[in-house]
Amino acid sequence: MAPQLVYIKTFGCQMNEHDSENILNLLASVDYQSTPDPEKADLILINTCSVREKSEQKVYSLLGRLKRHKKNGRILLGVGGCVAQLEGYKLLERAPYVDLVFGTNNIHRLPELIRTARQAKKAQVATEFHEDSPCHPLPELSKPFQVKAYVTIMEGCDNFCSFCVVPFVRGREKSRPSSEILKEVRGLVIEGVKEVTLLGQNVNSYGANVAGELSFSGLLKELNKIDGLQRIRFTTSHPKDLCEELIACFEDQPKLCPHIHLPLQSGSDRILKMMNRGYTREEYLLKIKRLRAVCPGIGITTDLIVGFPGETEKDFQATLDMVTEIEYDEFFSFKYSDRPKTQASQYPDKLPEEEKARRLSILQDKQKSITLKKNRTLVGKTMAVLVEGESKKDPLHVSGRSGTNKVVNFEGTLGLQGKIVLVKILTAHPHSLFGCLT
Ligand code: SAH
Ligand code: SF4
Ligand code: F3S
Repeated sequence: MAPQLVYIKTFGCQMNEHDSENILNLLASVDYQSTPDPEKADLILINTCSVREKSEQKVYSLLGRLKRHKKNGRILLGVGGCVAQLEGYKLLERAPYVDLVFGTNNIHRLPELIRTARQAKKAQVATEFHEDSPCHPLPELSKPFQVKAYVTIMEGCDNFCSFCVVPFVRGREKSRPSSEILKEVRGLVIEGVKEVTLLGQNVNSYGANVAGELSFSGLLKELNKIDGLQRIRFTTSHPKDLCEELIACFEDQPKLCPHIHLPLQSGSDRILKMMNRGYTREEYLLKIKRLRAVCPGIGITTDLIVGFPGETEKDFQATLDMVTEIEYDEFFSFKYSDRPKTQASQYPDKLPEEEKARRLSILQDKQKSITLKKNRTLVGKTMAVLVEGESKKDPLHVSGRSGTNKVVNFEGTLGLQGKIVLVKILTAHPHSLFGCLT
């Protein structure tokens, strides 16, 4: 029998991207091949994000467009991820043509859910949390060749920042046993992987609520010992839990890349408090100072929210001041968006959309010039680049990343894929650098 074809569209963060990889691997074990064309698919899946209202709207508008494929009775349409987790059965009310709703903790049940939906010709909904089970209890499957890979080390969040829906869609913090993580990474290295990115909503809490488990720094140290593994990255770490032991890893664990994503959210102490972030701007600045002291030139990126309820011009100015003072390499910035179940959605003094948009554009303009200025200081320098593949812009160029996470393009062949090479930087652009092999 010819294999069935599955099309998957992924929204959201790296954890969702990794979940989609796992979904495709899992479905390959029951004879589904992935296709980039929804027209050809027997199974269409959307892996969704609910972090902002806009992310959720994107899902419903895509569903509206995909609906017509359902005219062909053979096709199953499934919605997974964070919107599915949040909405459950309600999603079927809004989109009754959907056949599967599977939450963030039910990926492992997909083959069974698909089978039942086909046989019973009835929509299947699976959104229960499996609090005790380790995250991603998926069978071991061989994966396609990749230079870099994601590895989930923990899932869920207990921080309940007042604006954030993630604790409600990913559940409580669960850490995977370190023995399993180390085994997975050793396996990936044998298959040719050179760089791993450790994933978790809050990686610094790794192992915190498991007796006898390694700490996050302890895990990094064990990973650092794996022969053949060249680079380690992680995301995301919470500023309040960024401890001295972890900061020291940037100095004494050579495989840990000199880059940290450290979401600030706001530069105003008043707003940080209302956000329930658990640190002040001074505490945050001190950590940045320590990071730069142990690891000069470390790449630092962040997330920022503008227009949190009650944010005054002065609060916004405090965020701009932090951005000017810290000089991030890059950031992700968002207009505050009300999310169901969150504390902040109940707060008074919501800001008008136009005001949020105005603040966002001021903030982004500021960062644009900082990023370009910082990138220009790299011209003439030589950087170690892990070559990932062909450049998107020019087939004669290859592309990779520096340890500090800058995209670097240069003239080269695919024979270099998976190798770390030295590249001299010739020109700087807003989102990338261009250079030549030394
Ligand atoms: N676990 C990560 C963040 C996950 S969400 C962490 O703690 O850093 C990714 C980013 O989306 C957040 O850092 C925040 O900047 C943004 N975000 C989350 N909820 C939001 C909301 N309600 N409105 C606007 N942006 C939001
Ligand atoms: Fe959301 Fe805060 Fe948890 Fe990050 S730490 S996922 S922003 S609740
Ligand atoms: Fe979005 Fe869920 Fe990730 S809400 S940001 S896909 S954890």
